[in-house]
Amino acid sequence: MLNNSPFSPASPQAQAIAHLSIFVGIIMLAIFVLVTALVVYAAIRFRRRPDAAEPRQVFGNSRLEKTWTIGALLTVAVISIFAIRTMHEADSSPRPGEKPNLVIVAHQWWWEARYPESGVVTANEIHIPADKPWLVELKSADVIHDWWVPDLGRKMDAIPGHPNHFWIQADKPGTYLGTCAEYCGAQHAWMRIRVIAQPETDFKAWEQHQLEVPPTPVSGEAAAGSRLFNQLTCVNCHTVAGTPAHADIGPDLTHLASRETLAAGRLKDTPENLGKWISNPQAYKPGAHMPDFNFTPAQVQELVAYLETLK
Ligand code: CUA
Repeated sequence: MLNNSPFSPASPQAQAIAHLSIFVGIIMLAIFVLVTALVVYAAIRFRRRPDAAEPRQVFGNSRLEKTWTIGALLTVAVISIFAIRTMHEADSSPRPGEKPNLVIVAHQWWWEARYPESGVVTANEIHIPADKPWLVELKSADVIHDWWVPDLGRKMDAIPGHPNHFWIQADKPGTYLGTCAEYCGAQHAWMRIRVIAQPETDFKAWEQHQLEVPPTPVSGEAAAGSRLFNQLTCVNCHTVAGTPAHADIGPDLTHLASRETLAAGRLKDTPENLGKWISNPQAYKPGAHMPDFNFTPAQVQELVAYLETLK
């Protein structure tokens, strides 16, 4: 029906939520039609007529009152039963001591993804094997954020100091878009999520590739860029495997060039956009924690040449 909405479910969890929404929607529609019809009927049937006498005055009708009280209670009870069932399907509790397959840390304004079993660390583009329920531990590095990929299930708050858990699962391989759903500061709107569900073998290959350490360029602009990267403040915030850069304030850049987007979905990942972003991050995400470094155009070109080798 609608893409990226609770009505385009692509996982059993999202399916359960969609079914409940439709079920409750039908009940609400039925009540709306009934009430509207009664109001219209009453307005026409009992309208004021020119020569009518004073109508009969009614001060309460206990049979009617009992009917609508019990009717409303029954309606709410039926909805509750279905809602509790949906909560169980969409958000079942992990078994005690069950280890998460994926740890997601929300930052202002990007998503860090850690794969505890393999040691892979990446950002914003979260690969998962298709058709497999994965337990996710969700944390926050700063303020409250909210994970939401509508096709794949419920929202979940990322609360500082209080890890939450949810299940992520995609019925079919594909890219599922999501966003932060809790206002978290200036760039809340640019805290996009891409979940890339892959067939198991492709996922394993991706994971293997992420573990490879990209070779450090030894000549040309890329080598100059690599030296700049290590001399300047880049290393205070970012990680590139195989280099002295191993901070986790900003996204891990080890395989930056293999991603589709930059800055949590703000820009497509092209060399041109990467140059624009490095030259002036504040122009694209005002308030972002990456400052404007006043690089010269030559420095930007070298840094881009280096970062483009990080495939
Ligand atoms: Cu993070 Cu809104």
